[in-house]
Amino acid sequence: MILKYNDFDNLEYRKGSIEFGGLLTKLLEYLRLVRKEEKELTFNLDEFVKKSNITKEELESLLKTKEEGKHLFDFDIIIDGNTVTFTGFDSGKTRPFESIRTEYEDLGVEDFYKKKGNEYTNPHLKYIEESIKTIVDLGIVNLSKVLDLGSGTGEVTNELNNLGYYNVEGLDLYLCDEYENNTGYKCMEMSFDDIQQGKLKDKKYSTIICSYALHLADKSILHDLLWELSLISEYLVILSPTKKPEISEDSWELIYSFTNVKSKNRIYTSKNRNI
Ligand SMILES: C[S@@+](CC[C@H](N)C(=O)[O-])C[C@H]1O[C@@H](n2cnc3c(N)ncnc32)[C@H](O)[C@@H]1O
Repeated sequence: MILKYNDFDNLEYRKGSIEFGGLLTKLLEYLRLVRKEEKELTFNLDEFVKKSNITKEELESLLKTKEEGKHLFDFDIIIDGNTVTFTGFDSGKTRPFESIRTEYEDLGVEDFYKKKGNEYTNPHLKYIEESIKTIVDLGIVNLSKVLDLGSGTGEVTNELNNLGYYNVEGLDLYLCDEYENNTGYKCMEMSFDDIQQGKLKDKKYSTIICSYALHLADKSILHDLLWELSLISEYLVILSPTKKPEISEDSWELIYSFTNVKSKNRIYTSKNRNI
């Protein structure tokens, strides 16, 4: 079974679960991100929720699938007071981590979540860089102050720098250290959830560029997240390996789109720019 990058809606993991696929993928990816060789991981629940972007209720819904006899994952989840433990990664039960690794067709997510320092590389980097150059050459967006949203290790920022645009800020939940080391720019360690809750409301950007990251925002917050972004930026540029996520038309208007091999690129203007 192939688990395709960004194919969360149609995901079938082992026994298959369209309902839980996206959530399970998110959990596995987060555990892969933080796990080294441990056979068991225990987190403070609040800390886990904040860092993983997975709620207690979502964890409980996964637990329930086990109780119902659905074998969506091989390890155990124990919620006890304000701790959550993931256990049973040994005795062949590391499989989720291994299989997800081999099943990704697109190495972007794999490398990203491996998160071993600076090892993350986006295999579509060439197309991203070319797309950024095209966007700059088009001259549609104002690049006087750019937010690199889901900035990773600075792929977009570095290309903007190469093209002579230096007023850039990063934002990422997991890779801020790597971003700052690679670019020399500041990175706000923040989640899409934080933005949706208004934590960027005092900021102003001419353009927000989000490359290969917006699909990682939970669908339930996407509408409000996009609304918040439309209040703080004139333009939004989305680079993505697929046409997802869909952008709600009440906050952003599509003004240009093009594809560069693997990178599907869209340029929007804010409908709230004058608010
Ligand atoms: C596939 S990488 C893309 C990185 C880079 N923009 C690029 O084009 O290569 C996705 C990025 O989104 C970040 N990310 C994932 N979930 C996030 C969240 N909930 N809030 C903010 N950033 C998140 C990850 O840390 C990662 O750096």
